[in-house]
Amino acid sequence: MASTGVLCVNHADGEAGYAHNSAMQRADQNKIKPIIDEAVTGLLKSATHVPSSMVLADLGCSSGPNALGLVSIAVDAVFNRCAALNGQAPPELSVPLNDLPDNDFNDVAKRLVLLQQGTQSLGRVLTGIVPGSFYKRLFPSNSLHLVVSSNSLHWLSQAPEDLKSNRIPLHDQDESLRRARRNMAIQAYRRQFRKDFTLFLNLRAQELVPRGRMVVSMVGSRGCNRMAPVWDIVTFPLNDMASRGVISREMLDRFYVPMHGPSDVELREIIEDEGSFMLNKIQVHEVEKRVAAPNMAARVMRAVFEPMIVHHFGLSGDVMDEFVRTLEQHLTPGSPQHAALHLDDRVSVSAFLTKRF
Ligand SMILES: C[S@@+](CC[C@H](N)C(=O)[O-])C[C@H]1O[C@@H](n2cnc3c(N)ncnc32)[C@H](O)[C@@H]1O
Repeated sequence: MASTGVLCVNHADGEAGYAHNSAMQRADQNKIKPIIDEAVTGLLKSATHVPSSMVLADLGCSSGPNALGLVSIAVDAVFNRCAALNGQAPPELSVPLNDLPDNDFNDVAKRLVLLQQGTQSLGRVLTGIVPGSFYKRLFPSNSLHLVVSSNSLHWLSQAPEDLKSNRIPLHDQDESLRRARRNMAIQAYRRQFRKDFTLFLNLRAQELVPRGRMVVSMVGSRGCNRMAPVWDIVTFPLNDMASRGVISREMLDRFYVPMHGPSDVELREIIEDEGSFMLNKIQVHEVEKRVAAPNMAARVMRAVFEPMIVHHFGLSGDVMDEFVRTLEQHLTPGSPQHAALHLDDRVSVSAFLTKRF
């Protein structure tokens, strides 16, 4: 597995931090609110189904306002549902938030205190932080009622080993070679995603109570024939910078982004093959265009990819500023590189699952 220090977004604070550059992801979180509401209604069908306590966990919470976005929706949904059940007393809620150990958990802790204070009059909300990879066990068996996750599960445990060991770069400078190898690279990423997501489902099935629910959403792509690999958005501007001598070509050839955006078809197949969950719903959402203006989208990409890029290339803040300028040009409609990025094929994919037993 890649070192955990690489797989983190920029810490919350500052102009380049995740807190100021996560509006696109926030829009994605809002799109799955109705599914979280539905999941809570399914768990609390009637007054007799309301347990004395419930655990609602977010995996890959990051920091900044989005860290509590999904669990706040879930907590509100529980309180509203209990009020709708003739004022049934709500369960005690436990809200653990997970991310990798290098995440900005100081920021998260302060926000958790605000959540506790803001819900005091409605019921008891206890909070916690669970550092670690969601590709490992994180919680006791049969302990979780609802798992939520947004914009995180397209992060793989590692980039495909076969690409690295065969020294197949993600972005060949030679366009015909790049086209020829593209499908091979995409297939290697699909295999790695299948392996990781199967493991994720298996682990969560152990941790959820029988009939527990899971609502996950991640960066995806439209379909098998319209694969727009997540890595393009980083490797195109880096290739531009390597061509101008701003970064090393040799280093670029050894740079692998551990991310894969699956299609809904791919996701459905993996869920069905793994077998622990019933698939209640799968949805494809457009990326929010209103908040995806080129300059803003380029800053969002910096907040997400900077630690990974800096770790690999050892770049300074000035070179990262150049990365943002280059990416902004690529993201501007009408620029020569814009079409190559296939931005319209990028979507988010969400799934609503119920554990079978
Ligand atoms: C783009 S952020 C998404 C944050 C938030 N959920 C949102 O929707 O804005 C992705 C987060 O996933 C976390 N992440 C990536 N791989 C992970 C893993 N294996 N285990 C736990 N968290 C992981 C990263 O550290 C990062 O904070």
